[in-house]
Amino acid sequence: MDWSQLVVPSLRSLNPYRPGITEEKLRRDTGLSEIFKFSSNEAPVPPSPAVAAAMRDALAQANRYPDAQDLLDKLGQHLRVPAGHLVLGNGSIDVIASLVRTFVSRERNVVLSEFGYCAYPEFVKEQGATVRLAASGRHFGHDVERLLTTIDSRTSMVLVDSPTNLSGHALTARELGYLIDYLPDHVLLVLDEAYAEFTDADAPRETEQLPLRHPNVVVTRTFSKAYGLAGLRIGYGIADAGLIGWLNRIRPPFPVSRMALAGASAALDDRAHVEHIVALARDGRRVLVDALDAMNIVVLKGSANFVLANFGRAARRVYEGLLARGFITRAMHAYGLPTHIRISVGTPREVEQLVTEMQHLLRPTPSVHATVEGL
Ligand SMILES: Cc1ncc(COP(=O)(O)O)c(C=O)c1O
Repeated sequence: MDWSQLVVPSLRSLNPYRPGITEEKLRRDTGLSEIFKFSSNEAPVPPSPAVAAAMRDALAQANRYPDAQDLLDKLGQHLRVPAGHLVLGNGSIDVIASLVRTFVSRERNVVLSEFGYCAYPEFVKEQGATVRLAASGRHFGHDVERLLTTIDSRTSMVLVDSPTNLSGHALTARELGYLIDYLPDHVLLVLDEAYAEFTDADAPRETEQLPLRHPNVVVTRTFSKAYGLAGLRIGYGIADAGLIGWLNRIRPPFPVSRMALAGASAALDDRAHVEHIVALARDGRRVLVDALDAMNIVVLKGSANFVLANFGRAARRVYEGLLARGFITRAMHAYGLPTHIRISVGTPREVEQLVTEMQHLLRPTPSVHATVEGL
């Protein structure tokens, strides 16, 4: 059966999202018992006991559909945003996909950055709409001037990740202010802040308040990264209440499970655990950058829970060598950067072991000439 003839025409050019290799797959493929995962920017520690207990309690009522209002209220208090300005999703990516479905159609376009999150273009193509790419700026970050000049009369959305999925580079408060000030009224700015909690002092503060002052700004965040709940799949959007009303019309009933709601609610209360994950990321980032610097590898520290390193000609050897030893990192082919490897921060012990393996793999192999001379 040629399914491509039967699917909706706008879907024919879509590529499936290729997640990084999972621990389960590498274990199956290699038979290694100990696997270290540095590839999907997850938290390196399991949920706290309080979160695990809340999820167990929710499991006991899994026969009932969930009610999201308690979490919406709690999240609203935490963010100082009325609950009517919030929408929950099956991961923040679900909220982003819903925004594109709601606001982008065939005759419109979406402005993305050249090195923006690689998952975005497929959502736009799915709508039969056009992507207009703005060249990226320093450190693969967004160039707000170029984003603005790429907007035309058919642009319905500018979608940016800050910090970015590729390099962790974040917009500064000035850059974000400029982008919002000069954004035409007919354009929605979707600010994907999956890594917001990891940013440093110069990052824009209180961006969760932006949609209250600017109805054409939407902010998305997630419980997957700093809250350590990637496997639960829960994220949220902050937006104008009217916009949320439209989103809710296209959302499937009960998009977030009872377990995810309970886990996220307990995670919001457990500030010590979030702070622990953020501290692990910040400290680990520094250790990785210092170690890679010492190996003469160009590395971007970024403001998230990972670093991006350019291994040049050694990239393939390092990536595959690490994989063979059970260390999963992320080769950046999806971004057209075959010499770059993105490394999520692990626990201090994991980071130390990874550094040792990288040092081993990068050790110069003696050339024939040197060997002969040495005889
Ligand atoms: C920039 C960015 N946005 C969104 C996501 C998706 O996050 P979620 O797990 O909330 O769907 C990721 C995941 O890595 C990401 O890097």
